[in-house]
Amino acid sequence: MSRNVRVAVVGATGAVGKAMIDTLLRREFPYTDLRLLASKRSAGTVINVASRAYEVQEATPESFDGVDIALFSAGADVSLRLAPEAVARGALVIDNTSAYRMHADVPLVVPEVNPEAMWGHQGIIANPNCSTIQMLVALRPLQLAYGLKRIVVSTYQAASGAGERAIAELREQTVAFLEGREMKASVMPVSKLAKHYPLAFNVLAQIDVFADNGFTKEEMKMVHETHKILADDSLAVTPTCVRVPVVYGHAESVYVETERSFDIDQVRALLAQSPGIEVQDDPQAQLYPQPLLAAGRFEVFVGRLRQDLYTPNALSMWVVSDNILKGAAYNAVQIAELWLSREAHTA
Ligand SMILES: NC(=O)c1ccc[n+]([C@@H]2O[C@H](COP(=O)([O-])OP(=O)(O)OC[C@H]3O[C@@H](n4cnc5c(N)ncnc54)[C@H](OP(=O)(O)O)[C@@H]3O)[C@@H](O)[C@H]2O)c1
Repeated sequence: MSRNVRVAVVGATGAVGKAMIDTLLRREFPYTDLRLLASKRSAGTVINVASRAYEVQEATPESFDGVDIALFSAGADVSLRLAPEAVARGALVIDNTSAYRMHADVPLVVPEVNPEAMWGHQGIIANPNCSTIQMLVALRPLQLAYGLKRIVVSTYQAASGAGERAIAELREQTVAFLEGREMKASVMPVSKLAKHYPLAFNVLAQIDVFADNGFTKEEMKMVHETHKILADDSLAVTPTCVRVPVVYGHAESVYVETERSFDIDQVRALLAQSPGIEVQDDPQAQLYPQPLLAAGRFEVFVGRLRQDLYTPNALSMWVVSDNILKGAAYNAVQIAELWLSREAHTA
């Protein structure tokens, strides 16, 4: 790499932002300048990165002067306001929020699935929703080998998907419950009675708000983003998104119907050799993916592979991944790495 790469992390104090910084280090991303940006609230906070102290600055349009890559994860409003400013100053924006995902001129990229799409960017590349990313890493090899007709997915999504406050609140609620105290709730959905639901010792069949069709916005994201990434609007996608009291790692029960017949052992072998996947599937050894084991890892773990009992050309599987890493920070850094490798070739 011959040129200097100056990186900005927007939302650096958040769950995803902190994982971005950590991932840049773990991947030995060759940045020469690192700007840590957040809101006015945390301006002045010091974050240590590789034994060097960085002061967090308030994100403003001028923060992006001289920046090559800006990794955004500070909410959709911040991306809508500041991503165009970063692009106008010459930065490539990799956006983790939902702000631009469905824009026609913004590629929505999972490097194991549709890396080539990123080169059509006009300055912004979007990272898909965490639940969509891990599902599609697992399904892409099946799409290529057998064709996809229908997906029925139920998610078991970790608290960290709702950010730092949700993680802290789940921990506090768990302690309160075990000590026989009332659980305080302020992050998860609010009922008609204007009371937030606690997540500890609970399961909430709602992520984000409800759309008019009875699905939630999170569920509709899985439908629309899957169509865009796989370039197939005819694919039937039926999601149910559920929040569970897990800190890190989303799990998904995925039922999929394919166009062509398959052998389940061949599917297992195919997945085992596909990029970004680790197969953990051994009923005899009682081995299958689990959020606790996936936390902190970059891979998508796949197990519980079963041929359907009734429908030909259908199978079920269990897909687990760290939502903060492959579902957000690592996927974004992978995109930055692809950009970097092309820069290195054209430099
Ligand atoms: N968590 C996940 O699994 C996940 C996965 C994919 C995508 N995402 C998306 O990534 C974004 C961040 O998620 P998160 O989980 O990291 O949330 P979080 O833990 O709540 O962190 C939010 C971050 O945004 C910053 N921020 C808030 N308002 C800001 C403003 N006006 N200007 C600049 N920075 C501001 C916060 O800074 P302060 O410390 O100053 O408040 C903090 O650094 C969201 O859009 C989310 O949908 C999250």
